[in-house]
Amino acid sequence: MENFSLRAFFLVFTLFLCPQLLRSHGFISRQPPRPVIFTQHNGSDSDPQQVHISLVGKDHMRVSWVTEAKQTKSIVEYGKESRRYNAVATGEHTSYKYFFYSSGEIHHVKIGPLQPSTTYFYRCGGSGPEFSFRTPPSGFPIEFVVVGDLGQTEWTASTLAHVASMDYDVFLLPGDLSYADTQQPLWDTFGRLVEPYATTRPWMVTEGNHEIEIIPIIHSGGFTSYNARWPMAYEESGSTSNLYYSFDVAGTHIIMLGSYAEFSKSSAQYKWLEADLAKVDRTKTPWIFVLLHAPWYNTNTAHKGEGESMRKAMEKLLFRARVDVVFAGHVHAYERFTRVYNNAENQCGPVYVTIGDGGNREGLALKFKNPPSPLSLFREASFGHGRLRVLNETHANWSWHRNNDSNSVVADQVWLESLSTSEACWDEGLLSLLKDEL
Ligand SMILES: [Fe+2]
Repeated sequence: MENFSLRAFFLVFTLFLCPQLLRSHGFISRQPPRPVIFTQHNGSDSDPQQVHISLVGKDHMRVSWVTEAKQTKSIVEYGKESRRYNAVATGEHTSYKYFFYSSGEIHHVKIGPLQPSTTYFYRCGGSGPEFSFRTPPSGFPIEFVVVGDLGQTEWTASTLAHVASMDYDVFLLPGDLSYADTQQPLWDTFGRLVEPYATTRPWMVTEGNHEIEIIPIIHSGGFTSYNARWPMAYEESGSTSNLYYSFDVAGTHIIMLGSYAEFSKSSAQYKWLEADLAKVDRTKTPWIFVLLHAPWYNTNTAHKGEGESMRKAMEKLLFRARVDVVFAGHVHAYERFTRVYNNAENQCGPVYVTIGDGGNREGLALKFKNPPSPLSLFREASFGHGRLRVLNETHANWSWHRNNDSNSVVADQVWLESLSTSEACWDEGLLSLLKDEL
């Protein structure tokens, strides 16, 4: 009888007080995939569609959009008051062919200089609807949203609605955007789905495997659509490729690496990263965050070991630079590690986070390896998004927001301290040893 009462107590405790325990042991039913949404364009051929913005340098913004019609102007009118545009900028346009598909006209216009923390109203191509965005702040605090493997399903719509329900400054996407997978019209439907969000805050993205889109013999060049539609300001950081770049915003240095660009020691990306890290001034940007697609640390059975060769090539560079956090996607689940270097806990290494659970059509990566690694502090296969609130030079808060059916729930959060102020991690002897090893 006593045994029965004890078991009943533990059952009630587990059911009502420890849903996380149940989840981690696979007893709670997982979120199933939801259907793809095909977002249509209801305007005319000359109306702008798929409008989105991205940061260029410290005080400019690139506005990108598509028109079906060819003879439309690549201009953006903008100003601080609605419908009263006191500035206009002219840019360029491009288009591409992919097998039987011909893209619309893809326009890119750089506007600025812009003031920080300021709302601007703008219109693309001299007609069509008005949009508005708010520029990021010039200093702390700043809030980033981080979502990987977004796709364009009903889960994507749910994630984006949750993202928009709370304020933030910059959207960061560590790869796998549209899941068009060579079906080019799906890049257009993706652009339309994200437009309400990507017009209001800058979207900074890096590439995933779904952006490659090579078909042997038929289409041998990679990243055709991605590079045409989502150019990032790579030249500003000295990079020669849209597949990797960096930028500074409000006291943070953000590095977007390319899991699908060469990364060996002799590669252009490696040399660029080495030079980029050498230029970082931690008194101006106390925080360094890195985003890439294929995770270097991962205890899910999906994509096991896929980031390993890149980790072996580049991990020491990030460790020596005292990078604070590395965000990855690719695995369709959430996982947070402790500070790690070379497969061991290390208080001077980055925190590793996998956030590939935006809502894509492939569904979740349900199986984690057991027994769990002591390096992995939280893992769960659910859709959701992350928020990184950098409060000041030393403290930031990271939270993971799971998509429940109609609401968003904070399922994991942790306070982070910048490594820039950790005396132990900047010991000269320790750092010179690392330099010799490179
Ligand atoms: Fe991926």
